[in-house]
Amino acid sequence: MALDLNNLTGRTALITGASSGIGRQFAHEFARRGCDLVLTARSRGRLTELADELRHTHGVTALVLPHDLGRPGATADLADKLTTHQVTVDILVNNAGFGAHGDLVDTPPERLEAMTALNVDAVVGLTSRLLPGMVERKAGAVINLASTAAFQPVPHMAVYGATKAFVLSFSRALWAETKGSGVAVLALSPGATDTEFFQVADEDAAVGPRRSTAQVVGTALRALAQGRPSVVDGRRNALMAWVSPRSPERLVIGVAERTVRPAR
Ligand SMILES: NC(=O)c1ccc[n+]([C@@H]2O[C@H](COP(=O)([O-])OP(=O)(O)OC[C@H]3O[C@@H](n4cnc5c(N)ncnc54)[C@H](OP(=O)(O)O)[C@@H]3O)[C@@H](O)[C@H]2O)c1
Repeated sequence: MALDLNNLTGRTALITGASSGIGRQFAHEFARRGCDLVLTARSRGRLTELADELRHTHGVTALVLPHDLGRPGATADLADKLTTHQVTVDILVNNAGFGAHGDLVDTPPERLEAMTALNVDAVVGLTSRLLPGMVERKAGAVINLASTAAFQPVPHMAVYGATKAFVLSFSRALWAETKGSGVAVLALSPGATDTEFFQVADEDAAVGPRRSTAQVVGTALRALAQGRPSVVDGRRNALMAWVSPRSPERLVIGVAERTVRPAR
């Protein structure tokens, strides 16, 4: 039976990057709908605090499984832990991710490799481990965090933009593969959102007004209910994401370069 997003009692959502920002907001929204939770990120303390709050406020169960998902083998380890705890995941939110602001030539290769490991490999690893069960049960949802950075190249954040283009392409393809199965796959593309992302990315460029995590998650849940393959949060962001792929290549790259250029 397909998921009823208004009443998720008895369902379980696994949220990566739940310790902060958009992931934390997803945890609140799902708990409010009665959904049990598995929360993961690296920060055990922040996850434990959130789990306590959600149990107390909403009466849901909240399992904390701290993991560095950028480590090789991390998603297999996490899947094993789910089996040990006898958890069936109905909703997977591949949200953990980070960016790094700066030119490729100035960025340590290890930081870029850690980014592709988390933003790409962990998304593939968890999805490929959890989606088959959802399809077999004919119910489930996968929400993957792409970005408005997915719709054009992003000079000064080249690897980040490419990871998000991967997530968008991957999710749209899986949407088609699972169509009619009772499982929904959605790529969620926020623009600038008020989280710790910019601090982590060392991003000081003027990328426009930031939207709230509540707005972003609200957009995702509406799009999921409508069975859409992807959604961009915010009208201005959606317009830019529509225009960019339809505009001349050099113009698009030039505008993106000026927008993301480091303030000196
Ligand atoms: N904020 C924006 O403007 C924006 C726009 C478009 C897309 N996004 C995307 O939205 C997603 C969520 O980002 P956010 O804005 O909410 O940023 P955030 O506040 O920095 O949250 C990132 C989350 O990822 C977790 N994380 C980072 N490295 C990890 C690792 N190696 N293993 C496991 N978890 C890890 C962090 O927790 P720990 O540090 O505890 O591990 C944190 O919970 C990301 O995929 C991001 O690319 C953000």
